[in-house]
Amino acid sequence: MPRREFDDEEVWEKLYAADENQLATGRIERSSTEGEDGEREFERRVLASVKGRDVIDIGCGTGEFTLEIAAAARTVAGIDFSQRAVKKALENLRSTNISNLEFRLSRADKLAYPEERFDLAISRRGPAADTADSIREACRVLKKNGQLMLEEIGERDKQNWAQVFGRGQMYSRTNKVSTELKEKLAREGFRNISVDEFEAIEYFATIQDVLMRLENSPIIPNFDKEFDARHVQEIVKRFTASKGIKTNTHRVLITAVK
Ligand SMILES: C[S@@+](CC[C@H](N)C(=O)[O-])C[C@H]1O[C@@H](n2cnc3c(N)ncnc32)[C@H](O)[C@@H]1O
Repeated sequence: MPRREFDDEEVWEKLYAADENQLATGRIERSSTEGEDGEREFERRVLASVKGRDVIDIGCGTGEFTLEIAAAARTVAGIDFSQRAVKKALENLRSTNISNLEFRLSRADKLAYPEERFDLAISRRGPAADTADSIREACRVLKKNGQLMLEEIGERDKQNWAQVFGRGQMYSRTNKVSTELKEKLAREGFRNISVDEFEAIEYFATIQDVLMRLENSPIIPNFDKEFDARHVQEIVKRFTASKGIKTNTHRVLITAVK
């Protein structure tokens, strides 16, 4: 089966390299969100659930949120398959005095932890439920009655941009992400599965801010500034509103029990 763009280490190394380059040149994306997009709600729910528990963050990226979790949890493990991300996460960790957190390079479908090691597995826009193997791994490392909390990208995310590009992370999805996930999780033995969906509007201040996001995230696979210039121009032309260049966000929050 062909590997999906966002499940490919090389793709993520490129995205993190673009992000590092943007930071090094002092560029900061100017964007704002109108409405509850699910991100803050996910953070609230996770932070309210971690006290005194052993937690794994699957696809932790550069670990900023993992560090917040560690402040309240008993122990925390952050794993990611991107070397750049884990290197940055370790740098972030070194600048704190947190001692109950470790970051490791690991694939979600082959977690370097024993069975029943954690009370809670979380994954914020991460790979925990990308494949049957990754779901099985999350299940394996959870204790009985352990909890899985996911924030996933919904099928309508960045829909107007994907239509202009004729491709996108969510472009060819015909099924509801929430329905598919519920089925996949149930198949691997999870129960008490609950789902909440969030949709909001996101505005980007200028074309430069749109370009920054497209370069450092997997929204549009193989995004190329030169090759895709006409698509970006079209987005600016069609979706510029008084608050900025407009798109929609769609997030699905899922909780399940082992
Ligand atoms: C959208 S980022 C989210 C990062 C972090 N959870 C956050 O909220 O900032 C997704 C992360 O998952 C990682 N990732 C994607 N597929 C993976 C896999 N199969 N195994 C491990 N990490 C993976 C990527 O390297 C990336 O850091």
